[in-house]
Amino acid sequence: MEDDQVSRTAQMTAYSRGYHYDNDNPRIFDDCLANHILTKEERASIEEQMMAALRTINPAGAAAFPDQAAALRWMMQAGAAAPIVLARARYAEDLLETAVMEGAGQYVILGAGLDTFSFRRPDLVRNLTVFELDHPATQNYKRNRIQELGWEQPSCLSYIPVDFTQDSLATALKRSNYDPRIPTFFSWLGVTYYLSRNEVHVTLQDIARNSPAGSSLVFDYLDTDAYIPEKAAPRVIRMLSSVREIGEPMQSGFDPRTIVEELKELGFCFQEDLSPWDIHSHYFLGRTDHYRACEHTHFAYVVVG
Ligand SMILES: C[S@@+](CC[C@H](N)C(=O)[O-])C[C@H]1O[C@@H](n2cnc3c(N)ncnc32)[C@H](O)[C@@H]1O
Repeated sequence: MEDDQVSRTAQMTAYSRGYHYDNDNPRIFDDCLANHILTKEERASIEEQMMAALRTINPAGAAAFPDQAAALRWMMQAGAAAPIVLARARYAEDLLETAVMEGAGQYVILGAGLDTFSFRRPDLVRNLTVFELDHPATQNYKRNRIQELGWEQPSCLSYIPVDFTQDSLATALKRSNYDPRIPTFFSWLGVTYYLSRNEVHVTLQDIARNSPAGSSLVFDYLDTDAYIPEKAAPRVIRMLSSVREIGEPMQSGFDPRTIVEELKELGFCFQEDLSPWDIHSHYFLGRTDHYRACEHTHFAYVVVG
């Protein structure tokens, strides 16, 4: 990731949530604020890029759509990224709700991007202290944008800048009023992909060592087949290629056959590993549009042992 550049994948993620809120029915995840966090110009620029990508992938298909809205709908729904973004957000916030009922007092959002959680969920925020960690460039962009929009900052929310390739999570949390004695819920959505295996392991270890037993973590990951062109689904190959082009290459995954043991060694007990089929049955089955769970994405829910 470039040092002074807002994460383009974070902007794409916000776009997907906003698009879904405005255009799809039924909704998998409700983010009524996502469309506001990007400017009109940024949304238009993302749409232009998607149209250009469609013309490159499938020029004949692109010409056959009756209008840009139909082409955009197909790009959003049939691509790999939006189904991952929407389903993981729903999965994480459903588990967070349960964790709060069971006594979690802190919510740490790792690689928060343009997630609007703290502004969108006053029902959960009133029982939580929230820490948003992100790369400084993206976090600065987000904070400026929130100021521009005049959104009132919830008093429970703290921002902690961190670059997982340079700093440790443990050190970053120590710079804040995070309390390692309080049962905590962590989410790490759409981030493991972009880090090296070692950076992922070090961060996981920091979570386990800096939160009490029973604290939980939700994260999504790509299986290792996603990185093998002969095995990967075509839309996942396209997703990998498009993020590489924008300077945020995906590089890491887990082998679902060994992840339980791997996480155990890092201090976690597995509660759930949702496979692509599980994700599909939970969130997409019966839809009449083009959304389908991504072939190589899993959702992991683990608890500090
Ligand atoms: C695809 S976005 C996901 C945003 C959000 N979690 C969501 O699901 O909407 C990836 C996020 O990871 C963050 N990220 C990527 N590499 C990072 C690093 N080395 N250190 C800190 N954050 C990083 C980006 O800034 C961005 O916010």
